[in-house]
Amino acid sequence: MRGSWILALGVALAMAAPAHSQDVGGLKPADSFASISDETARSEALFAEMGKVIAHPRCLNCHPRDDTPRQGDAMRVHKPRVVRHDETGFGAPGMRCTTCHNSKNVPFVGSSGSIPGNEVWHLAPVEMGWIGAPLSAICRQIKDPETNGGRSLDEIVQHMASDPLVGWAWNPGEGRQAAQGTQDVFGELARAWVASGAHCPQG
Ligand code: HEC
Ligand code: HEC
Repeated sequence: MRGSWILALGVALAMAAPAHSQDVGGLKPADSFASISDETARSEALFAEMGKVIAHPRCLNCHPRDDTPRQGDAMRVHKPRVVRHDETGFGAPGMRCTTCHNSKNVPFVGSSGSIPGNEVWHLAPVEMGWIGAPLSAICRQIKDPETNGGRSLDEIVQHMASDPLVGWAWNPGEGRQAAQGTQDVFGELARAWVASGAHCPQG
């Protein structure tokens, strides 16, 4: 009798739990990691959560380790074949990214889907290549000013939280699935990761 009362109370409390402990579109908010008391473990768990977004095709398609962007959730080689060309990543003369990619997503005429767009649509530099890399290696790359565009950890947080190319992943245009969560939730995870020492997960 008493046991079931306690169980019922437990269920009621769980149902009344604040919304912040719940996933936002498949991404856990930073405060749901607050209960991990060991700071290193908390930091690693925060980055692992960020890894869900980092491993999303919307991000990876622009972060290859070779010279060619990818398309779609299957991450197939970009058609037509285009290359980064030089370290600026804007493509070869005559086949610049901006030849086709506008400043905004543009729906296809006469069929479903769209051409993705942004003011500065271009490929991430090769040292920021992530496709096929383990999350631990991506984490070390993101932390290292030698390979992250000379950024401090605070600047990395800023980039995650407000860079428009990162933000495109949550506004990817018709026919494309957005990354998990929102850029705000992702930015908060990055902030909490840095605040807890920016530790990288193992493996
Ligand atoms: C000749 C036109 C053309 C050029 C040049 C071009 N693209 Fe594209 N790109 C497209 C089209 C069209 C799509 C949409 C294909 C689809 O989704 O079916 C696309 C899709 C993409 C996607 C897929 C996004 C996703 O997550 O599905 C990426 C990434 C991309 N392009 C990057 C680039 C980069 C970087 C450059 C320059 C190095 C570039 N493109 C140059 C036409 C072009
Ligand atoms: C349209 C292509 C494109 C998309 C989509 C894109 N990026 Fe990038 N990313 C770039 C380019 C280009 C740079 C380099 C620009 C710079 O350093 O300012 C970059 C740099 C970065 C950096 C900086 C430092 C580093 O070490 O990697 C981070 C972090 C990053 N991107 C995260 C993401 C995340 C997370 C997503 C998805 C939510 C994403 N990007 C989607 C093109 C893209």
